[in-house]
Amino acid sequence: MPIPSSPTGGGYQIFNLPPGTYEIGAVQEGFESTTLTLELKAGDARIADLALRAGPAGNTVERVDYDTLYPPGRGRDVFMKECGGCHGVMHIPLHRLGPRSEEAWRRGVNRMFEVNRSLVPVVSPDAVPAADREPIVKYLNDSFGVHTTRRDLKLDPLVVDEEPLFRAIYVEYDLPPVAPGPEGKPAGSRGTHDVFPSAVSQTVFMVDTQQSSILGMDLRTLEYPVRFREWKIPVPGNVHPHGIIEARGKVYWSELAGGAIGELDPATGAISRYPSPSKGGLHTLRADSKGNVWYTGVYGPSRIGRVDAVTKAVTEWNPSRDHPNAHYYGVVIDKRDRVWTTGNTAHIVARFEPRTQEWTAYPTPTPSAGPRRPTIDSKGRIWFSEHLNDALAMLDPDSGKIVEYTSPLRHSGEYEAYADPQDNIWLSLRPYGTLARFDQQTKAYTYFPYPEPGSHTPKIEIDAQGTIWFAAARRLVSLRPNGNVPPRM
Ligand code: HEC
Repeated sequence: MPIPSSPTGGGYQIFNLPPGTYEIGAVQEGFESTTLTLELKAGDARIADLALRAGPAGNTVERVDYDTLYPPGRGRDVFMKECGGCHGVMHIPLHRLGPRSEEAWRRGVNRMFEVNRSLVPVVSPDAVPAADREPIVKYLNDSFGVHTTRRDLKLDPLVVDEEPLFRAIYVEYDLPPVAPGPEGKPAGSRGTHDVFPSAVSQTVFMVDTQQSSILGMDLRTLEYPVRFREWKIPVPGNVHPHGIIEARGKVYWSELAGGAIGELDPATGAISRYPSPSKGGLHTLRADSKGNVWYTGVYGPSRIGRVDAVTKAVTEWNPSRDHPNAHYYGVVIDKRDRVWTTGNTAHIVARFEPRTQEWTAYPTPTPSAGPRRPTIDSKGRIWFSEHLNDALAMLDPDSGKIVEYTSPLRHSGEYEAYADPQDNIWLSLRPYGTLARFDQQTKAYTYFPYPEPGSHTPKIEIDAQGTIWFAAARRLVSLRPNGNVPPRM
């Protein structure tokens, strides 16, 4: 059968589905779809026609532009510089917390400076002096006080291109049920953040932020839920595992609330934990060529840490003394074992050179750009998302020069950035509910809307086959941008 090179007016094609019974429908905000049931036998080629009709409109809150919702002024400038790299305007959006009284805003702002379950305050009190907090409180009250009505930001329409999408396949995997707690009561739900496809076994590992455990899904087993294994982190309470990687066959996680980097040997189930000297808020992980595990500390004091591969000693650095309020978020390591990280409220990319043991800071060309996650392409160039600047940026490691590429969509809030084997840069755009693929050659974007409207992923990983893995809407999700392998002709 010839493989069509273009969709025929709204056609979507899925090759090589296992035989079985399928329910087929379409999901699009503002529309309702018919559902068809289809029985597929081996060798079948079938066509299913779906009809969409207009459904109830979604959110009807008044939408206004940025300067109307967030009027310019000193309060906005301080907020965007010191806080916006984390919050964005659409990620942890403060406008959606209003209308609130001035006292409620003051309490909310002060909470950021108090020690919380992460063992450290979100923002170190000495990093943003009290004199800088009050203008923010006043600003939030003026903009979203009890005298205001709830409004939201005006977005652009997301226009998707059928041509690259008509074969793309997202697969959503339900997570295993939570084992009942004492007295047979359900023990809460599952919570997701980072995932990691193994390079040595057919397993996708992921953290469970609610059950304080590590899950592994075996890709060779189709049966649910036995395809999942679960390793409980053996400490009381929830350490809130957050980032996860595999290095030299061991699985490592960072703890947002437990103050340690954890290590699991999936072969034996043995677990060790290595405490961070500055405690909590540990975030993203990457390993260097020697198996040392590097991590970022996103809450509290600005720091980057490393667990030594052999001695397991933990060392931490403050990459830039000029930026005490940095909130290092993503981290990557290049082929020369240089460490690159983004300080999302310092608005810098910082680089560690192992030969000299020195850090260098590269400020973003746009002030308050909110750099979020870095990634490295095959030529060693550092790409990173600019969350507040709605842009993707590239740092040339030889010249230190940074080029910014502004998104065609306003308030797209570039979040994850990840280079695939073809050097396309994948981005997650929360306000638009989509992944985006940026082509370095043409500078064009292709959008792959999430299967669940309104969902979001903070992190993706791409395996050796080019499958993109992430967690969203409390499920494990994969995306094969080119679909299943087409049948041989
Ligand atoms: C490192 C990331 C990060 C930074 C930096 C940050 N925040 Fe937050 N903020 C959060 C998160 C996560 C939440 C929501 C969860 C929570 O309430 O703990 C939040 C919640 C809030 C809330 C709502 C709290 C409530 O109880 O209603 C306010 C107000 C707030 N932040 C203000 C600020 C201000 C002002 C700054 C800058 C001085 C700031 N944040 C910096 C991550 C951050």
